[in-house]
Amino acid sequence: MSTNPNTAIASRIYLSPPHMSPNERDLLLEAFDSNWIAPLGPHVEAFEREFAEKVGVNYAVALSSGTSALHLALLILGIEPGDEVATSTLTFVATANAVRYVGANPVFIDSETNSWNLDPVLLAEELREATQRGRPIKAVLAVDILGQCADYDAIRGLCDQYQIPLIEDAAESLGATYNGKAAGGFGDIGCFSFNGNKIITTSSGGMLVTSKKEWADRARFLATQARDPFPHYEHSVVGYNYRMSNLLAAIGRGQLRVLDERVQKRQDNFRFYQQEIGKLPGIELAPELAAGRSTNWLSCITVDPELFGATCEDIRLALESENIESRPLWKPMHMQPAYAQYRVRGGRVSEQLFKNGLCLPSGSSLSTSDLTRIVGVIHSVRERKDAKQDFGFHNASSTLTPNALPARSPS
Ligand SMILES: Cc1ncc(COP(=O)(O)O)c(C=O)c1O
Repeated sequence: MSTNPNTAIASRIYLSPPHMSPNERDLLLEAFDSNWIAPLGPHVEAFEREFAEKVGVNYAVALSSGTSALHLALLILGIEPGDEVATSTLTFVATANAVRYVGANPVFIDSETNSWNLDPVLLAEELREATQRGRPIKAVLAVDILGQCADYDAIRGLCDQYQIPLIEDAAESLGATYNGKAAGGFGDIGCFSFNGNKIITTSSGGMLVTSKKEWADRARFLATQARDPFPHYEHSVVGYNYRMSNLLAAIGRGQLRVLDERVQKRQDNFRFYQQEIGKLPGIELAPELAAGRSTNWLSCITVDPELFGATCEDIRLALESENIESRPLWKPMHMQPAYAQYRVRGGRVSEQLFKNGLCLPSGSSLSTSDLTRIVGVIHSVRERKDAKQDFGFHNASSTLTPNALPARSPS
């Protein structure tokens, strides 16, 4: 709270802020003192080893971001300019951007209603029709949205049937499982992000995982400017500066040690919301697949304005006025001006989710009083409706102008 009683406002609650433990500071200082202040070093190697073990994969390559992991995955799997890659429309833009970085074209697939992830039925239609048209899809890039794995029994089966590679964008889902197996291990290559808002963070950073040594070696090679093995600088192909710094890897190792606790707390947040607002008319929490276990990286709700009496944007504005950050669900890629020209299969489900979906504060450092404050605001929005106070419906486009963006999480 502010110390000035005249301007006392409650401290800001962020959507998904970083959450450090004492480990990270100690490891970071150790890395600093060792003078390995470079995009290589003992912490990078140890982080890769420990991460691979945690996720149950053979190899992990520490990178500067989740986006760079996606870019390298597409390059390594041989995706070329003009190829078509089927991917989720409901995602963060980095997924689609990576497809464009290699000159390929995304084909957007709508969400299924029971997980909000890529719909395998629509994917099957797209793979079949693209093959019939004589321009088969070259890869599937599936996204595990909001901390939950996509339906990999179905998606993997389709990729095997059409003999195309599967890339798993697990940027949001570290710690999730599907049929008891960890997220990130379902693709030929899996990609993670340690961006500031993720379940564990290195401020920025990413990891590429795979079971093939050849692909891990290729990722390391491309990520270090594709330096050929000569004493001088020799380059036979174009490379990238995508390796993770040893300092950030030290932070990552500390964060990895508390991952299970962070997952548990985010799941507890979700249960709290479920109990406290899940039964309000018109409010539903994000669905979970029976085969999966979500980390609930972000706790999201959908709001039926007729039943609830207010829109998700009314709730967002009410939270903002109480200094609480929340955010509309991802705007689907097929609705983004930068991606409007690409093919989309379906689209209505993700459009509705964007219209009615809201991500609530979900950090692992939220206290019970923070959570109580958040649900209190949502109840008050509902009570205003019960008291028949007309506070007017808002939709996202009426209030979310670029210049009106509120203070956001440090991510
Ligand atoms: C689904 C998804 N893919 C990719 C990324 C990109 O990761 P980064 O920000 O580390 O580049 C993010 C998050 O930022 C994401 O949410």
